[in-house]
Amino acid sequence: MTERAFKIAPSILSADFGRLAEEVRLLEEAGADWIHVDVMDGHFVPNITIGPQVVEALRRATALPLDVHLMIQYPDAYAEAFVQAGADFLTVHAETCPHLHRTLHSIRALGARPGVALNPSTPLSALEFIASEADLILVMTVNPGFGGQSFIPTMLPKIASLRRLLDRRRIPAELQVDGGICLDNIAEAAKAGATVFVSGSGILKAGDYRQTISQMRKRFRQCEGSRRAPR
Ligand code: DX5
Ligand code: ZN
Repeated sequence: MTERAFKIAPSILSADFGRLAEEVRLLEEAGADWIHVDVMDGHFVPNITIGPQVVEALRRATALPLDVHLMIQYPDAYAEAFVQAGADFLTVHAETCPHLHRTLHSIRALGARPGVALNPSTPLSALEFIASEADLILVMTVNPGFGGQSFIPTMLPKIASLRRLLDRRRIPAELQVDGGICLDNIAEAAKAGATVFVSGSGILKAGDYRQTISQMRKRFRQCEGSRRAPR
């Protein structure tokens, strides 16, 4: 696992929404790999954030991949609008998709890379038989809805167990973690097997974006060689 195989995806939920385009440009200059965009509907999670129009504006502001995380009750009804707005990755929650296999296929057919997210209490078995259909699997490390919450440490064995499942089946999907990720725990999450690290307050409330991102990359170096090759 090389250092560059780890990706840092700052979440704009913690950005200054009055200067969103500028914030995204600053994150790009600071070395972000992806931009994580949290979409909340006030039903699936107790908060409301943004819709496709804002994603379209972000698309114009950056060349980085837009990683759109749908925390909404009816993702099938909105997938097309978000893909047309410019989402590169479109992640749905398993808890909101009774026909998850079909949803992932339709996101791919729309031209985006499908992702599936699991709440902390949702077992990995929810995706056991469809994992190979996803390009990204997101293990939530907080209960979704708000930035600035604390990382739930009991998610580490869940990440490790998903890593084993992906390696055993040689599934190349990214393993993303989201919620409470900061300098203090990013190495632990990487050692457990995560490859993409969403961080909102851990980067945007820390002051110097460039310095924080480069410190995060230094923590990844501690993990080099600690990851077994896929069998
Ligand atoms: C939480 C969102 C996260 C959030 C992370 O529901 O999915 O992406 O922005 O923020 P931090 O890193 O502050 O926990
Ligand atoms: Zn998110």
